[in-house]
Formats: sequence, structure tokens, C-alpha cells
Amino acid sequence: MRLVLLGAPGAGKGTQAKKLIEKYGIPQISTGDILRKAVADGTPLGKEAKSYMDKGELVPDSVVIGLVKERLAQDDCKKGYILDGFPRNTAQAETLDQVLAEMNAPLDVALVVDVDKDDLMKRLTGRRTCRGCQQMYNIHFSPPKKEGVCDKCGGELYQRDDDKEETIKNRLDVYERSTAPLIDYYGKKNILKTVKGVGSIDDIFNNICSILDSQQS
Ligand code: AP5
Ligand code: MG
Repeated sequence: MRLVLLGAPGAGKGTQAKKLIEKYGIPQISTGDILRKAVADGTPLGKEAKSYMDKGELVPDSVVIGLVKERLAQDDCKKGYILDGFPRNTAQAETLDQVLAEMNAPLDVALVVDVDKDDLMKRLTGRRTCRGCQQMYNIHFSPPKKEGVCDKCGGELYQRDDDKEETIKNRLDVYERSTAPLIDYYGKKNILKTVKGVGSIDDIFNNICSILDSQQS
């Protein structure tokens, strides 16, 4: 299963991807996670990416496309993968199509996790993420059992630098401008599916699995 997860910041792409990894045994490729790791490690890539991420802008295509190409070539992607946060604009989507055509392995599904804009701010300001395993929590909707500590691995929970109100507003604008047009892009290729991203995380997950399983059969 070669899957792209689309959806606004805070829609729940990462939350659902973590559950899909377990069920389908395929890796999640989150460009946001890869870039945040580079920032935390202080690599040259991280230094370049940080200035864009802190403003809620997209990191240049040349940087991100290179990262994804390298990741897709790894062995664990042979069975499929979940692309989370990539592609983010038409240029990235077109390049991805070219790369996958060369590999003779086109995308199976582009799935939009659809959440109204009004719900996203509270989700993002309340998000906490584990430094160890990247599991997401939310202080309003899905808090950890012990404040500040990951239920899964005991790691420390932190708030992302770009989850500040002003930055979130810009991320949502960038999404509307650059990423939302991909809904049409994949619609025209007949691989677009949509799931409502509101309600319990498990219910949304079950709906996603029904969609994916019907594609595979
Ligand atoms: P990225 O890391 O991709 O962030 P994003 O797209 O803004 O999306 P988020 O990770 O914020 O949201 P999500 O949909 O994963 O939601 P989550 O599951 O965490 O990108 C960050 C930055 O990196 C970009 O701004 C850009 O600078 C750069 N970047 C990354 N990719 C790039 C690319 N391809 N090109 C260029 N630049 C790139 O959930 C959010 C919260 O809601 C959590 O607290 C969660 O617990 C909660 N939640 C989840 N589901 C529910 C539910 N059903 N009900 C209530 N709460 C819920
Ligand atoms: Mg995410």
C-alpha cells in the first residue's frame, strides 16, 4: 500500500499514521519529523530548515524532495509506505509522480483527513509530542496518563516550536494556498479518498482502514 495522507495542520495525519504503521506493517515517512530531527541534531540541513519552519513556511522543494527520494529508496519501503506531510504543493506532487513512475510503483491512494478550520487551533495549541517515540498527545482531548510523560515509552513530552498561535495561522494559510490544491490534483488521477477527521481517533482509524482495505481487495 503506497499511501499519501493529506490534510491541514492538526488534522490528525501523524496520529493516524502511527496506528497505520502497526496495522499494515509499513513505514511512515513524515517530512516534518525528518526535518525536526535535523533541527534537533543541529545539522546543516536542520539549520537551513529551521528558519522556514519557525515561520510556518514550506522548506524549499529542492531540500525536501531530496530527502524523500533518499527515503523511498530504502528497503523497508518495498512493501509500501505512508507519506505524511509530503507532497505539500503541486511541484512536489509532480516530482513524486515522476520518481514513482521510474520505480514502476505508482501511488495507490491519496487520503484526505478532513477537519474544519475552527477545530484545528485547539488541537495544535494543545498538542504535546514525545521526544523519544514521537507519539502525539493532546492536553484537551487525549492527555497522557501522567502529565509530561509518554504512556508508550516514558519519554519527555514537549510542545513543538511551530505550535504558537501566530505560526499556526500562517501554516493554515500556507496549507490553503499551496497544499489544498492537491485534493484536485489527486481527484483528477482517480486515487483520492476522503475521511472525516472529527470524532474519536479509533473511529476515524476504523473508517480509514475500511477505505484502504476496499482498495486492496
Ligand atoms: P508537519 O510536521 O508536516 O506539520 P503539519 O502538516 O503542519 O501537520 P501537523 O503535524 O501539525 O498535524 P497532523 O495532521 O500530523 O496532526 P497530529 O496527528 O499531530 O510540518 C511542519 C513543518 O515542516 C512545515 O510547516 C514546513 O515548514 C516543514 N515541512 C514538512 N513537510 C514539508 C514539505 N513536504 N515541504 C516543505 N516543507 C515541509 O494531531 C494534532 C493534534 O490533534 C494532536 O495533539 C492530536 O493528539 C490531536 N488529535 C488527533 N486526532 C484527533 C481527534 N480525532 N480528535 C481530537 N484531537 C485529535
Ligand atoms: Mg504531523
